[in-house]
Amino acid sequence: MRAKYVPILLAVIVLFVFGCDKPTKYGEKKMSIKKQAFGKTVDGKDVDLYTLTNANGLKTEIMTYGGIVRTLEVPDRDGNLGDIVLGYDSLDEYIENNPYFGALVGRYGNRIAKGKFTLDGVEYTLATNNGPNHLHGGVKGFDKVVWGAEPMEDETSVGLKLTYRSYDGEEGYPGNLKCTVIYTLTNDNELKVSYEAETDKATVINLTHHSYFNLAGHGSGDILAHELMLTADNFTPVDEGLIPTGEIKAARGTLMDFTRPTPIGSRIAQVKGGYDHNYVLNSSDGSLALAASVYEPRSGRVMEIFTTEPAIQFYSGNFLDGSNKGKVEHHVGYPTVGTVYNKHNGFCLETQHFPDSPNKANFPSVVLKPGEKYTHLTVHKFSAK
Ligand code: BGC
Repeated sequence: MRAKYVPILLAVIVLFVFGCDKPTKYGEKKMSIKKQAFGKTVDGKDVDLYTLTNANGLKTEIMTYGGIVRTLEVPDRDGNLGDIVLGYDSLDEYIENNPYFGALVGRYGNRIAKGKFTLDGVEYTLATNNGPNHLHGGVKGFDKVVWGAEPMEDETSVGLKLTYRSYDGEEGYPGNLKCTVIYTLTNDNELKVSYEAETDKATVINLTHHSYFNLAGHGSGDILAHELMLTADNFTPVDEGLIPTGEIKAARGTLMDFTRPTPIGSRIAQVKGGYDHNYVLNSSDGSLALAASVYEPRSGRVMEIFTTEPAIQFYSGNFLDGSNKGKVEHHVGYPTVGTVYNKHNGFCLETQHFPDSPNKANFPSVVLKPGEKYTHLTVHKFSAK
């Protein structure tokens, strides 16, 4: 080779080694999706765990059991990844005692009073699993079934398509229901959850996702310093059994007001039992709109939630009581207080239709008829400041 070409060749090599192929800040070069066996259910069904990683190194593990998001690692303001969802190490722990950590919830998120509703003149009786009421789909809801799974990938995202066919009469609901939920992790640092369902008989439906978040990292204590903003001027008050009274009440200027960023803990002591309320979103035309924004001051992590749904349940982890011993691996950067999850150690923001809608004529309809398609899209967008 002529001597004059040597510097050019060297430059090309240097560019290739240190330029094009340079690992990103988070140590990952490419998006990936990996599958591993994760055990068996009590009735012998195989459960798999899929690990989705985007081009920036954000990572989530999703189980075929309950469509559960077991881990979700996102960067803090210094670029350190931390696992920001509550969860367990093993499948058995999820099977034994899971307060819906990370789960897909169906057929109906939240409560239906006395587990009864009437549709087209027929009264249906659902499984009751929360005192006299039906909660989150009943005794064996969608959080406890094994979903079919198919990995997906395009230029800008990795995904997992989950499918489940719920039979006519399951947990008391009418109609065979074909459900598809797609989790997508994009290179814009979003976790999207997209739902579709079709039925062969008129039924009711309200699917949601039930991650418990702690943006400082799971196991770093309570979430009371997180600043929450909800694009909701109104909420639906509840009775002692957490069933909506039917009223739609203004939140502004009350203990329930999160129209401006407010630390979750600032008024929680005055809210009996803590927050466990359905907020009525200001945008209700079914288009994708900002529903919530949460900022955690120590880590700088921000989570924004966009949804097509008319409401969001804000639950401040009131029933966590130390009986759930979480994942032993811990997040990076903040002192681990311990992964025994106590009261208010995580919060949920469940995009949904209003609780008990099948019994409340003034609430938006949750009826799905044959020939129609149920759709719901929720996007969790992560950043740091
Ligand atoms: C409900 C709570 C319930 C929790 C765990 C939330 O969606 O609003 O009342 O305790 O889920 O089941």
